[in-house]
Amino acid sequence: KKRTVVLISGRGSNMTALIAAAGDPAYPAEIVGVISDRANAAGLGIAAARGIATKVITRADHASKDAHDAAIEAALVTFGAELVALAGYMRILGGRFVEKWKGRMVNIHPALLPAFKGLDTHARALRAGMRIHGCTVHFVTPDMDDGPIIAQAAVPVMIGDNEDTLAARVLKAEHRLYPLALGLVAEGKARMEGGHTVFAHFVDDADNGT
Ligand code: GAR
Repeated sequence: KKRTVVLISGRGSNMTALIAAAGDPAYPAEIVGVISDRANAAGLGIAAARGIATKVITRADHASKDAHDAAIEAALVTFGAELVALAGYMRILGGRFVEKWKGRMVNIHPALLPAFKGLDTHARALRAGMRIHGCTVHFVTPDMDDGPIIAQAAVPVMIGDNEDTLAARVLKAEHRLYPLALGLVAEGKARMEGGHTVFAHFVDDADNGT
């Protein structure tokens, strides 16, 4: 099982979905720790209640962005992390940090990338008149919401949707998608190579269809 640390900033519902999935003995990743950059993140209590170690590492407690990143890196080493899953982590990690975790750090974004990078994705999708919307899990690269896509889920935009109803529909999809995508990475079935996601295919020489 791949030792995985989840980074959060708030509610932690995607973190909770990953913890739940990892409760299955057959799941290829285990959640060994949760790090939050906010002391009052609701997800911290949820993780603790499930017996998972938590750590708060705020930007305010560090002199520079580099020092903050270094403290997170040190915590990941202490946790023995092999994979990092960003789950509503609302801070941009520095280039050196991202480089170190290249191919081993994933993020979930509440839109069908490359559309709607950044914030307020649901309001922007509504304003654009989109009839479908969704979420994306991707490898993290230095440019925000720009890394190779691992998996996506689409949901319909319904007549009469507002930001909240659409966000709720996407969030349900996120909770299914993230465990699936992290599982693919943990199993080595999706990996980052040359700036792209390479998927293992399931046909080998012995299985030529005959
Ligand atoms: C999720 O919708 C996630 O996709 C989004 O924040 C929410 C966190 O909810 N992430 C981003 O916007 C990243 N820029 P959660 O804390 O309940 O998982």
